[in-house]
Amino acid sequence: MVVTPKIRGFICTTAHPAGCARHVADQIAHVKSRGPLPAGPKKVLVIGASTGYGLASRIAAAFGSQAATIGVFFERAAEEGRTATAGWYNSAAFEHEAAAAGLYARSFNGDAFSDALKSEVVEAIRADLGQVDCVIYSLASPRRTHPKTGEVFKSVLKPIGTSYTNKNLNTGTGEVTSVTIEPANADEIAQTTAVMGGEDWELWIDALAEAGVLAPGARTLAYSYIGPVLTWPIYKNGTIGQAKIDLERAAASISKKLASTGGQAWISVNKALVTQASSAIPVVPLYISLLYKIMKEAGSHEECIEQMDRLFRDRLAQAQPPTDPEGRIRLDDWEMAAPVQSLIAERWDQVDTARLGELADFAGYQSNFLKLFGFGLEGVDYQADVETHISIPSLA
Ligand code: NAI
Repeated sequence: MVVTPKIRGFICTTAHPAGCARHVADQIAHVKSRGPLPAGPKKVLVIGASTGYGLASRIAAAFGSQAATIGVFFERAAEEGRTATAGWYNSAAFEHEAAAAGLYARSFNGDAFSDALKSEVVEAIRADLGQVDCVIYSLASPRRTHPKTGEVFKSVLKPIGTSYTNKNLNTGTGEVTSVTIEPANADEIAQTTAVMGGEDWELWIDALAEAGVLAPGARTLAYSYIGPVLTWPIYKNGTIGQAKIDLERAAASISKKLASTGGQAWISVNKALVTQASSAIPVVPLYISLLYKIMKEAGSHEECIEQMDRLFRDRLAQAQPPTDPEGRIRLDDWEMAAPVQSLIAERWDQVDTARLGELADFAGYQSNFLKLFGFGLEGVDYQADVETHISIPSLA
């Protein structure tokens, strides 16, 4: 069928298989163009491996240091008259590219929060790789079913304490309006922490360690965001920020458990980028549009793949990666640079619907958003009929 974008709010309900494959190939080409990684991991488990930062992590490890990768994700295959999700096509493309490069790649599509999927992955590691030396935890999910109690938790993106009013971008129309978000109650804070906090990361590491499939000296990372003061009420000091504090708690607890084998856990604070997860956060898309313009002009703009390549190449290549005083790896250093942030603050006050095109890179935001679903990539014939039923080799 001929596949066109169908945007509903902040998601696109279609995905283009050839476009997603192109997007994956472009990310692989970027990593290859930077040359081999000096001391990269060799056997890597990526939880949340099909889109955004997790996909970029998988690509950076596989094509930077020739790592065998196991990817876990929750995606949907194509059905009659309906395309698969972008993460499905990305993963199919990744596996084809990995096979062509002689790299082991196996994927698991299902609920990463469940005990059943953890057991399946443990058995696959035991059978195929023996052990993994790196675990990337890059889940972004709106809900989680607790594996022990069956309770379903839902995450919300809300401020805490008082309501928050700020400028907001309607990414469909390009209108800059004002949004007010009411504060979360205690239950919503707890539920968001149960979904996006560190408990599940700890359960994964416990399951891997207890089964003996975690190599001595194994490293594990989860991703976080801090950002500027203007987004703090909705991010750092909001419900998601509470979950990220719990992720930091989990990092410390995992590091303690792994210390005797020389292993360690880190939080990597990454740059704000257009992904399926970030496009759902109020206020953030306007901030990202302003940020992209400034960082592109400064020559310091990066996408997920540049960030993850820098993580493995510059930070994890060191025996003790440099961190901030709280022990976090900072890949948001260029975003948070003072000249970038002072320009953002200035433009944040000035930006409105009329001046959006001049002050922000809204076109860049929109094109990045479409790219997430495989649209707008160079060299793809979007008029052509494409096969939408694509299988992921290791799941076939
Ligand atoms: P994303 O939406 O692109 O990726 C989420 C991944 O999680 C996908 O692979 C999806 O299939 C998987 N997933 C979701 N629910 C699942 C489940 N129940 N079982 C198995 N897999 C599941 O998200 P993104 O933006 O790459 O986020 C990843 C992490 O990076 C999050 O912790 C996020 O907070 C963090 N981060 C994101 C930033 C951004 O600007 N996008 C900035 C800094 C950190």
